Amino acid sequence: MVIVLVGATGLVGEVMMRVMEEQQLPVTGFIPCASARSAGKEVRFQGRGYKVRSVEDAMATEPQIAIFSAGSATSKKYAKAFVKQGAYVIDNSSAWRSDKNVPLVVPEVNAHTISPAAQIIANPNCSTIQMVLPIAPIHKAYVIRRLVIATYQSVTGTGVKALQQLHNERAGIESEMAYPHPIDLNCFPHGGDFLENGYSSEEMKLVNETRKILNDPGIRITATVVRIPVIGGHSEAVNLELENDFSIKDIKEMLMNTAGVIVQDDPKNNLYPMPKYAEGKDAVFVGRIRRDHSVSHGLDMWIVADNLRKGAATNAVQIAQYLHANAWV
Ligand code: A2P
Repeated sequence: MVIVLVGATGLVGEVMMRVMEEQQLPVTGFIPCASARSAGKEVRFQGRGYKVRSVEDAMATEPQIAIFSAGSATSKKYAKAFVKQGAYVIDNSSAWRSDKNVPLVVPEVNAHTISPAAQIIANPNCSTIQMVLPIAPIHKAYVIRRLVIATYQSVTGTGVKALQQLHNERAGIESEMAYPHPIDLNCFPHGGDFLENGYSSEEMKLVNETRKILNDPGIRITATVVRIPVIGGHSEAVNLELENDFSIKDIKEMLMNTAGVIVQDDPKNNLYPMPKYAEGKDAVFVGRIRRDHSVSHGLDMWIVADNLRKGAATNAVQIAQYLHANAWV
C-alpha cells in the first residue's frame, strides 16, 4: 500500500517510521511530508532515503492511507482532500476527535468502531490512550463512576522545540522557548491552552476522549495535567471509583491478561513503572495497584507509557494494520 506521512520530520513522525518498519507494514510507496521549512530534507525509511515533499505533492500520489501528525490546523486543512481521493486518514491531532462521525480508536479497546464508512479515524491524545487501555476492562467488569487523574508528562509530547528547550537549558544555552517557563528542574500544571471552565485543553481531552472511547458519557472525570522535565514517557496517577466491589487480586489478574498492558507491581522491592524504562517500548505499564480506603469502592494505580510509541505512533500503526487485515486498504 501507498502511505503518506504528514509530519515526517517531527518527533512522532520519526517514531511512526520506525514502528512501521518494525511491524513490517506492506508499504509499496512511501511519501513523507512536512512544512515548507523542511524543503530539501531527507528522511530514512526501510533502509533508504526519501525526500520530504509538500502535502499538495503527496495528494497527487493517491495513497491508500494518509497518516497525519502535524497539528490540528494541517489536519483540518488537508484530511478531507485525501478522503476525496479514496484514502483513509489516520489523524494524530485533535482536529476530528470529537466529531461523532469519526471513530476515536485504541484498537485493543474499540477497534470495532472502525468501518469503511468512516474514512477519517482519530488517534486519541497520548495521555488518554495509555489510561484507557488498562481501565477499559475494569469499566466492563465493575463500572467506573468517577476518575481523578494527575499526569506527569514528558516534554516529547510537545514536540521537537520543547525537547530542544530542555536540552538547551541543561547545556546552559539561551534559545527559543517552547514553554512559557524553564522546564529543567521545574514542572508546571499547564498543558495546551486554558479554557473558560478553568481546565486546560489537555485536561479536557482526557475527560471527553475517555468518555467517547469507553462509550459512556456518564463517567465523571477530573484531571490535572502537569509537564515535567522527563523524556521517556508520560506517567499518570489515576484514582478510580467503581460501582461494584472488587478484589485487588482480581484487578491485577485482569490487567495481567489485558493485551498491551504489563503489570509492574512489587513496590517493596522498588518495582513500579517509570518513564525511563518505558521509553522505546510499546506496552502500557501499570503498578502501585492498591485500594483507595477513603471511599467504598476506590482503586488507585500508576500508569506509564512511552507517549511517542503507544501514545501516538504504535496506536496509529495498529489502526493501519487493522485496515489492512480487514482488506479495506
Ligand atoms: P517541519 O519540520 O517542516 O516544521 P513536532 O510536533 O515534533 O514539532 O513535529 C511537527 C511536524 O508537523 C513536523 O514534521 C512539521 O514539519 C510538521 N508540520 C508543521 N506544520 C506543517 C504544515 N503546515 N504542513 C505540513 N507539515 C507541517
